[in-house]
Amino acid sequence: MKESLKSLVITISFVIGASTGYAESGVESLSPELRSLLSKEMLAIQDGMTSIFPAYISGNLNEVANIAHKIKNSYILKQSITQVQKHELKTKLPKAFLQSDQRFHQYAGMLAHVAEERNFELVGFYYSKLAESCVSCHSQYGLHKFSDFEVKTIHKDDHH
Ligand code: HEC
Repeated sequence: MKESLKSLVITISFVIGASTGYAESGVESLSPELRSLLSKEMLAIQDGMTSIFPAYISGNLNEVANIAHKIKNSYILKQSITQVQKHELKTKLPKAFLQSDQRFHQYAGMLAHVAEERNFELVGFYYSKLAESCVSCHSQYGLHKFSDFEVKTIHKDDHH
């Protein structure tokens, strides 16, 4: 009797443990189809971010604008997904995640815009805004993939 109680407790704490973990991001609970779509979107925007840099520093802002447009249009909710999948994204992912994704795509739109206006300074500004958005979302919702964000940051002030 005691043994079975013990195993019940272990089972319960396992279930609780498994359901807390990283599950709050909701990303890992997505269907394999959506998960792979998200991953494709991420790899494509990483490709875009990587190609923007050489275009920017060589003054080719037309190319920067082209790539930024592509990034903007990669928004997962705008892909050819079914209504059911849209619903799944909206119910499984926290609102803040979707807002963060939306903001990210807005910055991509701004980047395209300032590149078209050939404003070099603002292109640099929005490029860094985009990079900040990657970090901000990954450090909150991508910890299962990017565990380096869990390494405690040492601030200068900590040494006093
Ligand atoms: C709104 C949230 C969000 C934003 C913004 C975001 N990401 Fe991600 N990214 C994620 C999540 C969540 C994962 C993990 C996906 C998974 O585990 O299936 C991920 C995974 C990735 C991966 C790994 C993909 C794979 O399958 O190997 C890359 C590369 C990546 N992101 C690049 C970027 C870059 C570059 C940016 C910014 C230009 C960016 N992401 C912005 C949420 C975001």
